[in-house]
Amino acid sequence: MTQTRKTYIIANWKMNFTPGEASLYLHRLANRLPVSRNPQIIIAPSTVSLQSLSLQINRRQMKLAAQNIYWRDAGAFTGETAASQIRSFIDYTLVGHSERRYLFNESDRDIREKVAAALRNGITPILCIGETAEERKHGETKAAIYDQLIGGLHDVSKEDIHKVIIAYEPVWAISSNKNARPAQPVDIADAATLIRSHIAKLYGKDAAEAISVLYGGSVNADTARSFLSLSDIDGLLIGGASLIADSFCAIVEIARELRNE
Ligand code: PGA
Repeated sequence: MTQTRKTYIIANWKMNFTPGEASLYLHRLANRLPVSRNPQIIIAPSTVSLQSLSLQINRRQMKLAAQNIYWRDAGAFTGETAASQIRSFIDYTLVGHSERRYLFNESDRDIREKVAAALRNGITPILCIGETAEERKHGETKAAIYDQLIGGLHDVSKEDIHKVIIAYEPVWAISSNKNARPAQPVDIADAATLIRSHIAKLYGKDAAEAISVLYGGSVNADTARSFLSLSDIDGLLIGGASLIADSFCAIVEIARELRNE
């Protein structure tokens, strides 16, 4: 990470915790985490917990993200939650997480509409991209990254690109996958450089320099430093390790140390 861009440490709780459990866990984290805007700590709980946690949270210490939104603002869409319905609870939302893409068949069109809906509703989209094991095996990593970037950013203008965060999460490195293993920092450095060069082509050099690129995939307190030390990586998206207070707080501490070096 560089000193000019902000660092983000994001906890993706996925489909864990009832609202009561989420509240207790947030309380424990709040007692241990620093009050800090840099690193910016972001918690992404289930939608059902967003309202109560938004009342509980100290926004100077942490912000909230949704794990998913629907892109229409209202209407007959049974089971969905519009960005406009939860915008007062959150500052960020994940979009296009690989579990959404591959378990729930989200298409590039869904994803670009969701990015647009987030921006329309004043929410910062965290666009998740990353190749599958199969794509990597066949040498299609670069193409997959390019396609997902182009697809997700299709409707994002030059004026709005600075409001978007990119999270690079190779699907094979995410802990929920069989045989998951953390990526090597060198792979992540290459991917982050590639992402910035695509952003430069699409939006110019300044946008490429300014955009935040995060890494996610089986990060824990032992591996966080190696990823956070990469000059093109501006933070982490953490699943499994974010459910354990000791691990998550240790990762935040590493990010703080590196910022102050
Ligand atoms: P993981 O999840 O840290 O458990 O691999 C990361 C993610 O899916 O965002």
